[in-house]
Formats: sequence, structure tokens, C-alpha cells
Amino acid sequence: MAAILAIETSCDETAVAIVKNRHICSSVVASQISVHSHYGGVVPEVASRQHLETINPCIAQALEEAKLDWESIDGIAATAAPGLVGALLVGLTAAKTLAIVHQKPFLGVHHLEGHIYATYLSEPQLQPPFLCLLVSGGHTSLIYVKDCGEYKLLGATRDDAAGEAFDKVARLLHLGYPGGPEIDRMAKSGNPQAFSLPEGKISLPEGGYHPYDSSFSGLKTAVLRLVQKLEKESSQPLPVNDLAASFQETVARSLTKKTIACALDYGIDTIAVGGGVAANTGLRKHLQAAAKAHNLQVHFPPLKLCTDNAAMIGCAAADHFNRGHTSPLTLGVKSRLAVTEVMQLYENDQICG
Ligand code: KG4
Ligand code: ZN
Repeated sequence: MAAILAIETSCDETAVAIVKNRHICSSVVASQISVHSHYGGVVPEVASRQHLETINPCIAQALEEAKLDWESIDGIAATAAPGLVGALLVGLTAAKTLAIVHQKPFLGVHHLEGHIYATYLSEPQLQPPFLCLLVSGGHTSLIYVKDCGEYKLLGATRDDAAGEAFDKVARLLHLGYPGGPEIDRMAKSGNPQAFSLPEGKISLPEGGYHPYDSSFSGLKTAVLRLVQKLEKESSQPLPVNDLAASFQETVARSLTKKTIACALDYGIDTIAVGGGVAANTGLRKHLQAAAKAHNLQVHFPPLKLCTDNAAMIGCAAADHFNRGHTSPLTLGVKSRLAVTEVMQLYENDQICG
């Protein structure tokens, strides 16, 4: 069983984990949310500095919690793309340095492939092919998972990502950062039918709508106009709970429709959901009910594996390692890299940043 020490620093969590194939030995996540919340969003330079300060204690803690030493580690992995360049560089450089010092193979990992692998940690028996709905702060994608490193993009957002829409709408409702968990919390005591909001649809030149692509910018603007109207017309406090519940309901309904249509059209009977928005109560409820109605299996990882963590990165790295894939020490970071290009990170097909 491949034991991988993995590092994740692509955005605002400094995370280190030790994973043996699909089993978590330790998983440390140091969140920077309290630092960035003063600014209402992630400040890239601040994120890099925080990663630098936190990375070494996190590595020590991951080894200690797993009760393992360097001898028992087979490979060292880090997220190489996509993400904030300065933030990625801290984790990638730490992993490469450890690989040189301890003479271990090094593996760069694609962050979205990590989110796909999060489901394997809670469902170790799951085998591809399956459909992954990946909904995070930066991505909203429907990915056909054929095998390790083999992905086909079937649907994507044309503008904001789902998590980004939650964060922006939370700001409109004067809620804190990150917005997703705040909206989810407020929605619990709100009426999801209170306001009728538009589901984003992508028109096709030949008529009709794209069945799997999403759009959230129109929905965000509709919430903005509604908030402005309510503030102008009423002296009552903003009905934040109802607004949050109606927005969440619209996003959940739209994502569910597209995911179910995609699974049925492609004849895929299993859906795995990944990324921070997979933690959303409304999405879980809608998608679970629709999957059941269509006789489809749907897997949501536990909440701590939905948001960024290094265990999912280690799990993806272990699969690549078992197939003989390793990355060159010349591998650089990439702020953008399509999930269909994952194999660029491994030997013979390298990218240099
Ligand atoms: O996957 P993730 O931790 O980081 C990225 O790779 O982007 O996702 C973060 C995103 C944020 O936009 C956050 O607001 C959203 O996930 N999020 C949620 C919930 N928890 C986190 N969105 C909706 N409902 C939640 N419960
Ligand atoms: Zn992520």
C-alpha cells in the first residue's frame, strides 16, 4: 500500500495529510479564513505568507498523528495546479525539498483530480466510470471519470463558479466570508419559495439551451436587484433568511437538473459530488431525492473532505504512484490547467513553470 505524504496550499488552507491508498492516516488542515475574512475574500500575498509560516508545523503534526516516520513514506505529493501561484509555490517547493532530502519520488497533483478522489476516501469500493459534479469556489464542472488521469469535461460554468456565486450573494446580504456556509446556515430558517429567482440558462445558436453548462451571473444580478428593491421599498430589515433560502434553492435545483440529465444521457448510474459546495444542505437534499427517483447512486463525501484538504491530494497521488507515475523535480506550478490535462504533470509530458 503506497504511503503518501501530501501537501495542499492552492488557496486559503494549509493542509498536510498522510494517506495509504484510500485510507487516511492523518489529515491536518490549518484554515486561513480568520485572516482573510477581514478583507472579505482571499488576498493572494497574505495567503502565501501564511502558508510559509504554517507549513512546517503542519508537516510535523501530520507525521506525529499518523505515528509514522520518513522511512515509512513512499512518496511526497503537492498540489501543482490550478490555484494561486504564490500559494501553490510554497507547497510544491516544500514537497520537492522533502523529496530530495529523504530521497523519495515526487508527485505533482491536479487540485480538481484531488476533489474527485475525495469520494474514494469515504467510498473505498467505488470504481470508475462515474460522473463527478465538481462545485467549488473556482469551478463548476460535470466530469466523466473514466479512470485515473482520464477525464472528459461534459459541462462547465460560463461565468461565475457555484461557490463564487454563494460568496458574492453572501456579500450582498451582508453575511461573512466564506459565503457558502453562511448562506446555508441562514437558509435553514428561511422559506425557499419566498422569492422566485431565475435559473441561469445558456442559449444555443441553433435554439434551445445547453443541457449541462451553468451560468450564475444572471442569478447574482437578480438577487442584487431584489435586495435594492426591498431596501428602497421597505423600512423593515432585509429578509436575509428567505433571500438565502430562495437563492440556495435556485442553485440546488439548477445543478441537480443538469447533473441528472447528464448522467441519464450518458448512461452513467453513479454520481460523486466534490468541492466546497458539495457541503451545501440544499444541494445534498435535491440531488439525493432526484437520484433516488431516477435509480441513480449519489455519493457526497463528509463535509471535511468536501472543502480543501490534503487527504484527497494524497489519495490521487497514491493512485498515480501505484501506476508508476512520478513528476520531474523541474515541475512548476500553473494557475490554470484543465482537468483533462492532468497527465501533463507526470514524467515524459512535463510542464515547467
Ligand atoms: O473546494 P473549496 O474548499 O475551495 C476551492 O477549491 O475553491 O470550495 C470553497 C467554496 C467557497 O466558495 C465556499 O463558499 C463554498 O465552497 N462552500 C459552500 C459551503 N461550504 C463551502 N457553499 C455552499 N454551501 C456550503 N455549505
Ligand atoms: Zn478546492
